[in-house]
Amino acid sequence: MTDDVTIREATVDDAQALTRLGEDLGFGGTIGELQLRLAALIASSDHGVFVAVAPDGRLAGWAHVAVRHFLEARPYAELSGMAVSSRHRQSGLGRRLIAAAEHWGGAQGLLALRLRSSDGGDQVRRFYESIGYRYVRDQRVFEKELKAA
Ligand SMILES: CC(C)(COP(=O)(O)OP(=O)(O)OC[C@H]1O[C@@H](n2cnc3c(N)ncnc32)[C@H](O)[C@@H]1OP(=O)(O)O)[C@@H](O)C(=O)NCCC(=O)NCCS
Repeated sequence: MTDDVTIREATVDDAQALTRLGEDLGFGGTIGELQLRLAALIASSDHGVFVAVAPDGRLAGWAHVAVRHFLEARPYAELSGMAVSSRHRQSGLGRRLIAAAEHWGGAQGLLALRLRSSDGGDQVRRFYESIGYRYVRDQRVFEKELKAA
């Protein structure tokens, strides 16, 4: 059960705990970098960042949801990333973090929450499908490095 784990919006003060959990929660970078990223996201109404806090005060997971704007389509909410600490998995916390992201998107007036899964294979797919998400399509991602102007 995860009822004793609290889900709340992240603050910049969470950067240290998120960094300490490091790879377990899927983060790279220094505390300073994470503080800067968190501060920028928290300051923007287009982003929601949620953390799950265990009774001992340690972070058990996180989720980041953002509004995606388009010229040719209505905006939607996109789950930019999420992870549950390995010792809290399979106890419903991932489901609760997604529910927080869905609630945030609904409060923004958005009609759908989407996510792009690039790793994790069948297990991640089973997780999302078991909480009501339907597979839409594969997508190729292209990238080019930019030179500073
Ligand atoms: C994927 C992840 C977020 C799932 O979190 P979780 O807290 O373990 O998930 P929950 O306990 O809320 O599970 C919700 C449902 O998904 C299912 N599920 C969760 N993990 C699963 C797995 N590895 N394989 C199959 N089903 C899984 C659960 O059985 C449950 O289904 P049920 O309600 O029908 O029993 C977690 O494993 C994780 O952080 N993984 C590493 C990072 C990652 O892959 N992030 C997502 C990138 S897109």
